[in-house]
Amino acid sequence: AQADKGTYPFYMLKEIDEQPNVMRKLAQVYLNDAGDPVINTDLLAALKAADRLYVVAAGTSYHAGLVGAKLFESLASVPTEVHVSSEFAYNQPLLSEKPFFIFLTQSGETADSREVLLNVNEQKFPSLTITNVPNSTLSREATYTLLLHAGPEIAVASTKAYTAQIALQAILAKALGQAKQQSGANAFDVKQQLALVANGMQALVDEKDTFDQLAKADLLHTPNTFYIGRGLDYAVSLETALKLKEISYVQAEGFASGELKHGTIALIEKDTPVIGIITQANTAGLTRSNLQEVSARGAKTITIVTDALAKNDDTIVLPTVDERMTPLLSVVPGQLLAYYTSLNKGLDVDKPRNLAKSVTVE
Ligand code: G6P
Repeated sequence: AQADKGTYPFYMLKEIDEQPNVMRKLAQVYLNDAGDPVINTDLLAALKAADRLYVVAAGTSYHAGLVGAKLFESLASVPTEVHVSSEFAYNQPLLSEKPFFIFLTQSGETADSREVLLNVNEQKFPSLTITNVPNSTLSREATYTLLLHAGPEIAVASTKAYTAQIALQAILAKALGQAKQQSGANAFDVKQQLALVANGMQALVDEKDTFDQLAKADLLHTPNTFYIGRGLDYAVSLETALKLKEISYVQAEGFASGELKHGTIALIEKDTPVIGIITQANTAGLTRSNLQEVSARGAKTITIVTDALAKNDDTIVLPTVDERMTPLLSVVPGQLLAYYTSLNKGLDVDKPRNLAKSVTVE
């Protein structure tokens, strides 16, 4: 059954708004009263036996994987690589001795990812598909499956599936860390974090007018723009730039903020919007310097910053959560900016040109 759009003009806005509830739903499904993960024991044993995780995905799911890898490394101390499925499929890197594969796929039908899964199955390696669609092809063909419980996602540009994938990876990383007796995993209160994230998301989606105005002022008439950040903020920059490209057709790039000066800064002109994401204390000052560099060359800078790191003239301030969970909040302004840029251009937000929700050809 198709989800109902209700009073929303587009599914995308409805799906952005659903994110706080998706966070709560995942906590309800995958955490017990004490806040500990409830994960299939065979799956946990297989994960524990692995010496390296390989996260394989396409598009927005790939971007969710970039965040997930940091969670697996930080909470479970397991080296984790993230790969674009269409690349991995025909250029498989040297694998570790005991690899475990995690497929992230909203639809469970992406042909590029399935091609990798077929190879993985042939090599008899264990795998997990994290998907929003029960009984989808990748869910049936992997060794294990976990569902995102995000409800149907209709808009081509993925929003709630991305945040659900990150939240579920956080839960899984804590579960694996606890199984491996990692003290950091015990100390990480994922239940409390998801509750904080849900409230923070709600506060952001309640400020729609702010993002509408910002989109009108800075993004509507620009031919190009940049999102910049370091570490997790870079991962989110890639995703927020993709959102903007997909539905508003503004040329947008997500860039590692330190790398900008090694070439791409040549593209900065008067009034080029550059959006800095700043949520990590250890790199906040560096990204601020990078913003000053582009500002000195005429760029119009916008900042998305957590409360803990905010200064007086920051544009968008996010509530503070554990630094590893900030992508769940810092992505929301980017989703809303993309939405309002597309809307104000009069475009079909839910069905952008040239794109399909699920791509079943390689
Ligand atoms: C398509 C969609 C993207 C999506 C990608 C991967 O290109 O337009 O929004 O991120 O496929 O889809 P999946 O279902 O595997 O997550």
